[in-house]
Amino acid sequence: MNRLVVVSNRVPLPSAGARAGGLAVALDGLMEKRGGLWFGWSGRIAANVAGGQPALSGIEQAAGIDYATIDLTQDEHDRYYNNFSNGVLWPLLHTMPELMKFDRRDAKVYREVNYRLAVSLQPLLRPSDVIWVHDYHLMPLAAALRERGVKNPIGFFLHIPFAAPDVLAAAPEVAALVRDLLAADLLGFQTDNDVANFAAAAQSLAGATRLSGQALQFGGRRVKLGVFPVEIEAQKFAMMAGRNAFGTTGERLRRSLDGQKLILGVDRLDPTKGLLQRLDGLECLFEKHPDWIRRATVLQIAAESRKDVGSYQQLRAALDAKAGSMNADLGEPDWQPLRMVSRNVDRAEVAGYMRLAAVGLVTPLRDGMNLVAKEFVAAQEPDDPGVLVLSRFAGAARQLDAALLVNPHDPDAMADAIDTALRMDLADRRARWRSLWDAIADRTPALWGRSFLASLMRASQPVVNKPAKPAEAAPTSPPRLTLVEPTAAVGGRRG
Ligand code: ADP
Ligand code: F6P
Repeated sequence: MNRLVVVSNRVPLPSAGARAGGLAVALDGLMEKRGGLWFGWSGRIAANVAGGQPALSGIEQAAGIDYATIDLTQDEHDRYYNNFSNGVLWPLLHTMPELMKFDRRDAKVYREVNYRLAVSLQPLLRPSDVIWVHDYHLMPLAAALRERGVKNPIGFFLHIPFAAPDVLAAAPEVAALVRDLLAADLLGFQTDNDVANFAAAAQSLAGATRLSGQALQFGGRRVKLGVFPVEIEAQKFAMMAGRNAFGTTGERLRRSLDGQKLILGVDRLDPTKGLLQRLDGLECLFEKHPDWIRRATVLQIAAESRKDVGSYQQLRAALDAKAGSMNADLGEPDWQPLRMVSRNVDRAEVAGYMRLAAVGLVTPLRDGMNLVAKEFVAAQEPDDPGVLVLSRFAGAARQLDAALLVNPHDPDAMADAIDTALRMDLADRRARWRSLWDAIADRTPALWGRSFLASLMRASQPVVNKPAKPAEAAPTSPPRLTLVEPTAAVGGRRG
């Protein structure tokens, strides 16, 4: 089997603790099954990069996976990760350009870090490796590798949405990034809307030509596009939820509810997750439907993330203020509507809480997929399931259309949907849950990866590169590769 080389900004090193985030969750599931090399940032800040040289900061090995990482300097971390990746590309690609803060010095360092990653990765590559690059931090990486003579098949997957060209045009760097992406053989997205937006941007901003089917022509090469919705290990998550609902933390939460219904939100604290709008909807619920006072409690777990980015700091302050005023305005001496937790809660613990919840609130303003929505479905007890209230602007809404779909900008609609969910009779809850479960039960991250990689092998073609300097050239140019795919676990239905 050809070795898989996954490249992502964040690498979940076994030696480091777990972190909230969809990318690590999806790729962990794939790498666990398949093994390979996982390359990216160590999560550490180095005082400086010795003599400007791109040294690897560490290599670790665990369960068939080699992890190779580089450190970032403080300036790189600020400009590449905080300012450009999370301060420009994240809001822009989520169609929230008003949150973007563009500075061309940040764009320059973003590019330099991508080149440094390419230089560090190249000596680790074997001729038969298949390279899979992930997410918006690494948009120039495929082009940087190609420039250095790397001819291996390269796929790129974007975990977040891709915005319409009009929106993208707000950032001066974006046309160049779209051109860079076209150095890959296959570009994967979460939904067909993202594919359509990318194809339009590639034509209008980069001058690519649309070929029939899901393909573009650029610089004499054919680049394939595809939709590959990210999946979770639903069967495993279901078992974890079952175990943890009755563990210490689950029991403690249940006792503290004292018979009240639990309304649960689990998110990274992020402007795209619609947390302020969610609190507006919840406030509206208790005002419009006061019979839920003392009969329902909201638990919002909002793990702090990207604390150095201004818009995240502002959101944290606004959320704290809003949560405080909501509890003060609606609370009673013996009851508070909202419990807020901003630390990173253990995933197994979260699974148990999901199983105890009567309603799962997943209401992002925009989201590439949103794995929490799928996890909430997986966590439910089939005979007595909770109800998912889901934003129609999450990629997951395409697969989970049996949820109560809401517009997160409309507090009344959200309040009414939560009220409906809390009152829904058992037969309706079971029927909805069954159809949600059917949408996720037989899919796994391993199958997701397998389908992407199979498509990448079909798409890869001999690349006509600029001749590489001899020292930089890949050892040999691999012929078209045949991928021997692993046997992925396909689970049956639960219940
Ligand atoms: P994103 O990738 O934007 O963070 P997703 O919903 O796709 O959003 O993935 C988030 C992942 O991180 C899920 O697996 C979820 O369980 C986990 N997660 C999110 N928020 C928390 C939290 N507050 N505490 C623990 N885990 C979390
Ligand atoms: O899914 C989007 C994403 O940016 C992932 O790339 C990442 O794992 C997750 O959100 C968490 O973000 P960060 O790595 O910035 O903590």
